[in-house]
Amino acid sequence: MQDITIKTATVESVIHCGADTFDKYAPKLKNKQLFIITDSTVNKLYAGLLNQTFGEDAVKYIIPAGEKSKNTRTLLAILNKMLCSDMRRSCCVIAFGGGVVGDIAGLAAALYMRGVEIVQIPTTLLAQVDSSVGGKTAVDMAGVKNVIGTFYQPREVIVDPRFLCTLPKREIKCGLGEIVKHGALNAEIFNKLTKNVKKLFSLEFLEDITYYNIAHKAKVVTEDEKEINGLRKTLNLGHTTGHAFELLNGKRSHGEYVLIGAYYELQIARKYGICGGQYAQSLEKLILSVIKSAPYFEGVERAVQLAAHDKKNETELITLVVPKCEGESAEIKLNREEYALCLKEISDSLRG
Ligand code: GLY
Repeated sequence: MQDITIKTATVESVIHCGADTFDKYAPKLKNKQLFIITDSTVNKLYAGLLNQTFGEDAVKYIIPAGEKSKNTRTLLAILNKMLCSDMRRSCCVIAFGGGVVGDIAGLAAALYMRGVEIVQIPTTLLAQVDSSVGGKTAVDMAGVKNVIGTFYQPREVIVDPRFLCTLPKREIKCGLGEIVKHGALNAEIFNKLTKNVKKLFSLEFLEDITYYNIAHKAKVVTEDEKEINGLRKTLNLGHTTGHAFELLNGKRSHGEYVLIGAYYELQIARKYGICGGQYAQSLEKLILSVIKSAPYFEGVERAVQLAAHDKKNETELITLVVPKCEGESAEIKLNREEYALCLKEISDSLRG
């Protein structure tokens, strides 16, 4: 068990990591007025544990599982339930679930009475290594991902590997997407991953690597909470292309699209002479050890349009954070024609 702390100008967020952290820290929340937000899948698995830990008085709101719940309608329904349940300013929202639950619960907590306390208890690998940490909250609107949101740090995050045992392989793969992304940004994580490439799906290995991922993200968020000085932007490696393919194709999990995006952006970095040699080969091998093969896509022109609307672009150019060398990334900006040519060349080279 180890704690990691994020200290920002206004808040301190403590992340409790490791086995038995749920049993140690969750019962301590019982002395507050609690509003638990979870989803239908997680509730089926853990309704008993929630009751036993937080008692009958805690109000529970269950959203339908899946990305489709991440919208303003669900957000308003949560806020309405909080109001109808007489939640006070001193209440505590518990986000118990994966990334969707964490993002929407975080936003509800930020808005209700101008902000109430939130504790994140992530139950998926992706939420444990990425989305529950760092205070990004959001819902989607009009087909645009995460467009309504704010930065709002959880007071505590409880990251207990016990919840990984009930995850399907697809969910583990999804979390590995963000883990490998952190590997492309942090040499220590990269070396651990490349040395243990055969153990990537083992729960013991994941428990260990989760700590290093959170430590990396916590350091970045402490230095650049609101993505102002550029450091937090590095966490978007693979995401511009990954999000565009996710919106274009939508058949895989978010983490897999991050890896596909990282694969394509690695090839772009190679083409522009930013990344190469042994490091590029090792990173490519690592990505492919999770997704097996990188797919080609029909209609990459549409992906270019989607990437052009990415909120990370500050001009009409498309901004990409690409791998550079061990522990380092680089930001490049391409115009639509250059980016379209890259995607087309890479996609064509992957056609069977
Ligand atoms: N997932 C990227 C970030 O939290 O900044």
